[in-house]
Amino acid sequence: MRNVTKDNITDVFAGYMSEDTDPRTKEVLTSLAKHLHDFARETNLTHDEWRKGLEFMEWAGRITSPERNEFVLLSDVMGLSSLVDMIHSVPEATSSSVLGPFHVSNPPPLAIGADMKRHYEGDVLLVEGVVYDTDKKPLAGATLDIWQTAPNGLYSSQDEEQDISSFHALMTTDENGRYAFTTVKPVEYTVPSDGPVGQILDAVGRHPWRPSHLHFITSAKGCKSVVTEVFPDDDPYLDQDTVFGVREDLVMSYERQAAGSFPDGFELSGKVSGEYLRVEFDFVLVKDD
Ligand code: BEZ
Ligand code: FE
Repeated sequence: MRNVTKDNITDVFAGYMSEDTDPRTKEVLTSLAKHLHDFARETNLTHDEWRKGLEFMEWAGRITSPERNEFVLLSDVMGLSSLVDMIHSVPEATSSSVLGPFHVSNPPPLAIGADMKRHYEGDVLLVEGVVYDTDKKPLAGATLDIWQTAPNGLYSSQDEEQDISSFHALMTTDENGRYAFTTVKPVEYTVPSDGPVGQILDAVGRHPWRPSHLHFITSAKGCKSVVTEVFPDDDPYLDQDTVFGVREDLVMSYERQAAGSFPDGFELSGKVSGEYLRVEFDFVLVKDD
């Protein structure tokens, strides 16, 4: 291996693996090295630039904790998380979107028609719909793991004022595949921008805002779960989402409703007095094969 050159190092790397290397590991690492080497050759990467890159990674490592993962955020703002989602999306099913770092394990159960907003004030929003499979069969007993920001733009894990379950819920669909809950309309918010990822955004003149959204992980027996988000169609950041999470089928109209006009078939246990917003969003899950 003494004749390594800038032109053959990619092939030399690919050939320097043992015979019994797992084939997928070999494929992924060979391709990664090819793209990294091409990147350095194409940009004529300098020592200073490469050192800056390493310092960036080191900072991302230092700032990463159980509550904040700067590498996930880097993947999000670079569009890689969304690209991986889209590569594996199934056209007949609801589009997937970024998970983000604010999901919690064991969210508290919420009955159909119940209220997720507790004492919080804001635009009251009724969210309802049906979970179907791709044959349009309603899925009874499907679960929706739901989370969102409080009206101050913070998730529970970012905010000492909220307990960890605040604005998190787990709902199970009824015999007709239906779900419904009241909440307050989530607000736009910024992803953490006081670390290395924030510097990348600054360097390219990008802001850290995301359009307002509700997060869901929707699952049913015999189907693939979908991790997704629902956005209102009037959000100013819809076309500037800093993590590229918006998909056409996830953008919905939040319709203003007159006081007291509730949809049939629901006992709303939340306090809904006066006007409110309503969004109807159906999920389509693809069967496991
Ligand atoms: C979120 O939507 O919660 C989120 C997604 C990606 C990065 C940061 C936050
Ligand atoms: Fe979010």
